[in-house]
Amino acid sequence: MSDFNNSFWNIWVILLTLGGIAFCIIILWTQSRARSNSGQVTGHVWDENLEEYNNPMPNWWRWLFYGTIFFALVYLALYPGLGNFAGKHQWTSAGQYEKEKAAAEAQFKAAYGELLTQNVELVAADPKAREAGERLFLNYCAQCHGSDAKGSKGFPNLTDSDWLWGGEPAQIKETLLKGRMAVMPAFGHLGEEVIKDLATYVRSLSGAVTDKSIRAARGKEAFANNGCAACHGAEGKGTLGLAPNLTDKVWLYGGRDAVLIETIAKGRTNQMPAFGEFLGEDKVHLLTAYVYGLSQGNRTEAAKPEGK
Ligand code: HEC
Ligand code: HEC
Repeated sequence: MSDFNNSFWNIWVILLTLGGIAFCIIILWTQSRARSNSGQVTGHVWDENLEEYNNPMPNWWRWLFYGTIFFALVYLALYPGLGNFAGKHQWTSAGQYEKEKAAAEAQFKAAYGELLTQNVELVAADPKAREAGERLFLNYCAQCHGSDAKGSKGFPNLTDSDWLWGGEPAQIKETLLKGRMAVMPAFGHLGEEVIKDLATYVRSLSGAVTDKSIRAARGKEAFANNGCAACHGAEGKGTLGLAPNLTDKVWLYGGRDAVLIETIAKGRTNQMPAFGEFLGEDKVHLLTAYVYGLSQGNRTEAAKPEGK
């Protein structure tokens, strides 16, 4: 029970609880003693001839009631129930949760002990670790990245070799432990025409055929003059940890003109939540290995962004 910040409520709850129990005792006591009318009918009749007698409760029933009262008093002495009084056992739901969590963690450590001390490359090659990693991924990551980890609009594919924050074990681990926040600023102030030029140029970077070569040329200039290059690199190949590669065919939001225009005009803000505190170092270690393993089959040198 959370503590009351006013002692009145503490006393109020204690009085109500003990008063209620005392009231039950008094009723039970007085009613079981009032035998003066016993044996007489009350005058209540059902089903033509079923009459109610004014007899006291049978003893076994009365003692059952006393038993429940005794139980309540013992319970209130041991467990929380009387205002702020924590009870002799000092039991709390938070304490029980912590205890169960510690037990689960010990079990986890016992099952995966030696894997947790190995480096990520080794763990990624271990079938048992991959199975455990997949289970964790399905529980905690699949709702955003998909159960096949291939992502969707706004949620990156983790099985390719295209990384914004880096695909080396240490970089993946940092992403999982601390989370990541990506901000692509809005450039609506540049005006519709310039934004269209930029979108055409960005499209041309990944080899999309465009007949608007004049637009693309103007876009190239705007790209250099408006600070796009500061984040995405002079050739749009991206900067690790700062802005994605625009020259590959991998799009987080989409490579169609309309989507590019929206991205540039309105900007994008995206967040990968931090899992360090929630899952703990050990589970993150297994997940890092799992994610690292996913991308290994598809690794190509050419697709790596600049600065890596
Ligand atoms: C609430 C949705 C959400 C959940 C849950 C989530 N992610 Fe992410 N994750 C994202 C988003 C969004 C990004 C992209 C952030 C950005 O644009 O930089 C991301 C990025 C990443 C990246 C970096 C990719 C890169 O290109 O560098 C990795 C690795 C990753 N997530 C792994 C995981 C793992 C493993 C889990 C499960 C523990 C997980 N994510 C759970 C939303 C989520
Ligand atoms: C402050 C650094 C920064 C600047 C300046 C910047 N960008 Fe970005 N841009 C980003 C980041 C970070 C992302 C990734 C957002 C995410 O992961 O959600 C991004 C994403 C994009 C995307 C989406 C890519 C995809 O995969 O869908 C496009 C297109 C883009 N930027 C174009 C531009 C253009 C054009 C300019 C100049 C007008 C520009 N950016 C300026 C940081 C920047």
